[in-house]
Amino acid sequence: MYRLLCAAFAGLLVGGFLPAVADAGMFPNNEIKFLYVNNCGECHGAKGRGSEEGPSLHDNELVKKSATGEIAKILVDGIPEEKKRYPETEFAPPMDGYGENLSPEEIQKLAELMKSWSQ
Ligand code: HEC
Repeated sequence: MYRLLCAAFAGLLVGGFLPAVADAGMFPNNEIKFLYVNNCGECHGAKGRGSEEGPSLHDNELVKKSATGEIAKILVDGIPEEKKRYPETEFAPPMDGYGENLSPEEIQKLAELMKSWSQ
């Protein structure tokens, strides 16, 4: 029994704790991590490093030069076809707005997260 418990604990450590530590600097807490991963990770990658569906959000030029409020507005409105910044790539359609699916508080938290990744 003791051995089983130890194995379970080691499993927990490796499976849960270590990855959490690796991400520790990236997400201020688990709530924001889930908010990001569930809504944005599909296109921007679970760690925001980009995918075939969306650009990396780390050291992102648009985020760097935008105030948190401007990023929040992008997240609410989305990016319309005519404001697409990556016409040469396959990111299509650009990005829907989240004004109807996320609360203003959630949008604000995500905008702050974006700023922390691109300073
Ligand atoms: C369906 C795919 C998809 C999802 C889901 C998605 N995005 Fe995007 N996002 C994109 C694409 C594609 C672009 C680039 C659009 C362009 O300018 O061509 C983009 C652009 C952005 C930008 C502007 C940076 C830039 O370089 O254009 C930010 C900030 C951003 N997304 C944040 C988010 C956040 C936060 C979420 C979750 C709430 C999210 N995105 C969800 C596809 C997505």
